[in-house]
Amino acid sequence: KKEIKVSPSIAAGNLMNLGEEVKKLEISGAHSIHFDVMDGHFVPLLTIGIPFIEQMRKITQMHLDVHIMVTNPDQVFQDYISAGADTLSFHQETAIHPHRICSKIKEMGKRAGVALNPSTHWNTIQYLLPVLDQVTIMSVNPGFSRQAHIPLVHHKIKELAQFRNENNLKFDILVDGGVNADNVQTLTQLGTDIIVAGGAVFNYENYQEAIHKIKKASII
Ligand code: DX5
Ligand code: ZN
Repeated sequence: KKEIKVSPSIAAGNLMNLGEEVKKLEISGAHSIHFDVMDGHFVPLLTIGIPFIEQMRKITQMHLDVHIMVTNPDQVFQDYISAGADTLSFHQETAIHPHRICSKIKEMGKRAGVALNPSTHWNTIQYLLPVLDQVTIMSVNPGFSRQAHIPLVHHKIKELAQFRNENNLKFDILVDGGVNADNVQTLTQLGTDIIVAGGAVFNYENYQEAIHKIKKASII
């Protein structure tokens, strides 16, 4: 029996009350907090960044899964680790030296992830997989929460999970975008370990119930 882990995307929450949102997530059954950093260049929106991570780090022990949607990850990734990220996922599409970034993240004792946009093939990071702790598969075009899931990426997840099994690799597969109780079982079947949930959690009053519903629906 396999049940999915849920990482609520707090940028989809009440930004006027982030401290309270964190406290609610702590008792919600969430696996981690997904923290979307958008720079207004790689993606249209500009959200929240380092000062928020630093302050969030002071009020919670929850695992912070920081997803940087920025044009210059090589320059800034270390700042996010120092601010408190536990897992740092940068984009394959903008990184100049992905292997160097991953090595440095692991040197700093944290988890290294790479995020792939819907049309980016997983084999662009094939030689990186042995040093990766996580692959973030975007199932929406990054930049906004509450978008429709793009099922086109399901074949990519399947191929990546197959490659992982065949090569006895250990990275987690995290799927990010438009995930909810209706599509989560398919994702579990394809080999997904963790899903990000923005609207599927923060559109509801009771986060614990919303997460429980997604977990129950995910079981295979
Ligand atoms: C999109 C972000 C996602 C998004 C998830 O750029 O990376 O994490 O906020 O929100 P939902 O689950 O509502 O698509
Ligand atoms: Zn994200």
